[in-house]
Amino acid sequence: MSESAQSAPPVTFPPAFLWGAATSAYQIEGAVREDGRTPSIWDTFSHTPGRTADGETGDIAVDHYHRYREDVALMADLGLNAYRFSISWSRVQPTGRGPAVQRGLDFYRRLVDELLAHGIRPAITLYHWDLPQELEDAGGWPERDTAYRFAEYARIVGEALGDRVEQWITLNEPWCSAFLGYGSGVHAPGRTDAAASLRAAHHLNLAHGLGASALRSVMPARNAVAVSLNSSVVRTVSQDPADLAAGQKIDDLANGVFHGPMLHGTYPETLLAATSSVTDWSYVRDRDLETIHQPLDALGLNYYTPTLVSAAEEQVSGPRPDGHGASAHSPWPGADDVAFHQTPGERTEMGWTIDPTGLHELIMRYTREAPGLPLYVTENGAAYDDKPDPDGRVHDPERIAYLHGHLSAVRRAITDGADVRGYFLWSLMDNFEWAYGYGKRFGAVYVDYTTLERTPKSSAHWYGRAARTGELPPLEG
Ligand code: FCB
Repeated sequence: MSESAQSAPPVTFPPAFLWGAATSAYQIEGAVREDGRTPSIWDTFSHTPGRTADGETGDIAVDHYHRYREDVALMADLGLNAYRFSISWSRVQPTGRGPAVQRGLDFYRRLVDELLAHGIRPAITLYHWDLPQELEDAGGWPERDTAYRFAEYARIVGEALGDRVEQWITLNEPWCSAFLGYGSGVHAPGRTDAAASLRAAHHLNLAHGLGASALRSVMPARNAVAVSLNSSVVRTVSQDPADLAAGQKIDDLANGVFHGPMLHGTYPETLLAATSSVTDWSYVRDRDLETIHQPLDALGLNYYTPTLVSAAEEQVSGPRPDGHGASAHSPWPGADDVAFHQTPGERTEMGWTIDPTGLHELIMRYTREAPGLPLYVTENGAAYDDKPDPDGRVHDPERIAYLHGHLSAVRRAITDGADVRGYFLWSLMDNFEWAYGYGKRFGAVYVDYTTLERTPKSSAHWYGRAARTGELPPLEG
């Protein structure tokens, strides 16, 4: 431990702060064919040869569908007081439309009951990337109707669980759904069509707006409706006007495209101009922006690493990493004149640079962008190549250091006036990391993929202590 960390004053949090962990349905549940569930785009994608590392799928994942009681007990033992999870749409509405399948909803009823019985506050994400395959067959997110289907689904889940769940998140990281799903194609459904990716972005925005009002129409007014954005902290290599313009372009494509309509009821002019060779935005109908611009009760921020860009010396083409996997197709429509750079510093197993200052910057930006709106860090965490010691324990001091650094950044932001109400560590346990399969371990709890046995890593104990005391414990020596 460094001397400064030893002698630094304790980092303490407000008493009502939520100390949570996050997961998503396809990454943990398994049981993909049980109780009426049908394939989502991630089932189809992961079963398509060449799409995921070693052809891995979420068929079994970590079998949370059958082991949820054990998982809730684990969280309770650690001392967590909140849990963010997502609902599998095709478990609830197998064809993506029409009446709900009660057996599917029953799983989430049981899970919520179990959480509440253990004093853990549930936070539901309605959409964490697993569109029912039938809706993709009908055109997916580039089609306007998908937004209406989402609103119907939101209403069903709101009706079923709104009496007991107070925190709701419409979409998780719509950037990934739109631009990795339909642009670079490294995520399901794996399409590579720049124009379709922008249409998808608009219809995801519309889904958020329609979904938020559908939730509100069936839920008690005390419930909070939010969205989780993976807003990028975009930095430029210099203050040169060309580099600053590159930064603006990526900021629009990463952030403004979502927070523009959601928070301000408008798409940034600079975004419309920069993408005019790709799309004419004619699918944005009158009143859509009004629909999208729903009052929010909170905003969820997911943060892992900053993004560093410059103007490109020449047009960039060919494979390039985007942080979620390499593709010959860019997830940034209209930005072939932008170059992406590795940010300096230590990296996690994902190759993502560790930079807690980015989290502070992000929180302060949204404190200005959305004054008065409570903020939550709805995801933050790190992948490391964790392995059990011969005695069966899993020591992950790097993850503890990562969490310490980022939670300290959250605390600094609170001191600087930000209204951050909680933090959800990604992730509760090791799980299916999308196209990377099971190779990247983000969990605070280690999962043995042969036996599915769960073992809290030292970071889980460290984080649990923080949750119980409201103060960050010292770093592990
Ligand atoms: C986020 C996703 C989450 C997980 C983490 C590492 O983009 O929301 O499911 O993959 O990254």
